[in-house]
Amino acid sequence: MVGNTVMDEVLYEGKSKIIFKGPDDDSYILRYKDTATAFNGEKKEELGGKGKLNAEISNIIYAYLSEKGVETHLLKVIDDVTALIKKAEIVMVEVIVRNVAAGSFSKKYGVPEGTELKNTTTEFSLKSDELGDPMINDSQITALGIATREELDYMTKQALKINELMCELFAKAGIRLVDFKLEFGRCGGKLILCDEISPDSCRFWDTETNEKLDKDRFRRDLGNVLGGYRDVLERLKNA
Ligand code: TMP
Ligand code: ASP
Repeated sequence: MVGNTVMDEVLYEGKSKIIFKGPDDDSYILRYKDTATAFNGEKKEELGGKGKLNAEISNIIYAYLSEKGVETHLLKVIDDVTALIKKAEIVMVEVIVRNVAAGSFSKKYGVPEGTELKNTTTEFSLKSDELGDPMINDSQITALGIATREELDYMTKQALKINELMCELFAKAGIRLVDFKLEFGRCGGKLILCDEISPDSCRFWDTETNEKLDKDRFRRDLGNVLGGYRDVLERLKNA
């Protein structure tokens, strides 16, 4: 029970989130967990307070995007780690946006991390823990009936718009938005932005020093994982 909201029916438990049945048929309750995972769950640790930090960071970004006209799933913040969200049918692909080479892009294409890209790239990966979220192209997505051409075009356009808005916001916070992952869901005949936007789902580097402030601290055992998350939150609050 949170306030007067009863949370008794878990609909889905993911690696870092739980979705409960909502108070009505049009909503769900989203709860952030403290669990950190990487490499498709191979590496796993409880980081006390991570859920709260990610919830607060994501809520700030969502409020900002919503103010700028982006439709999102967020209805109401319930408490530190809990939010009321619109019920949506998640499109089973992740949209990954990159401004700077890093992570799997650097590895796959042999490009040093930190290389500025001449244009922003977008790519899709199939949401499947079993298969390790493989990259998938447009014609493969439509061939499998995962999303339509129109939906893919819309998600790409929205992802690029969200990138521009987030780059502006993070520049003010002294943070370089290297890359990030988005998810969309079908709701009322439209696609809306879903899931969290946090240091778990983005690469954030200090603009001056390129210090990593995101989940790469956990993936790469760089230490002080939550110190990075706290830093992102404080800078966003002061931006
Ligand atoms: P990548 O370089 O490992 O492909 O990751 C690109 C961005 O997407 C990075 O900011 C982390 C984010 N991401 C997720 O949020 N979830 C995932 O499962 C993966 C693989 C990446
Ligand atoms: N979130 C994914 C996992 O738990 C992958 C990652 O972000 O590195 O394995």
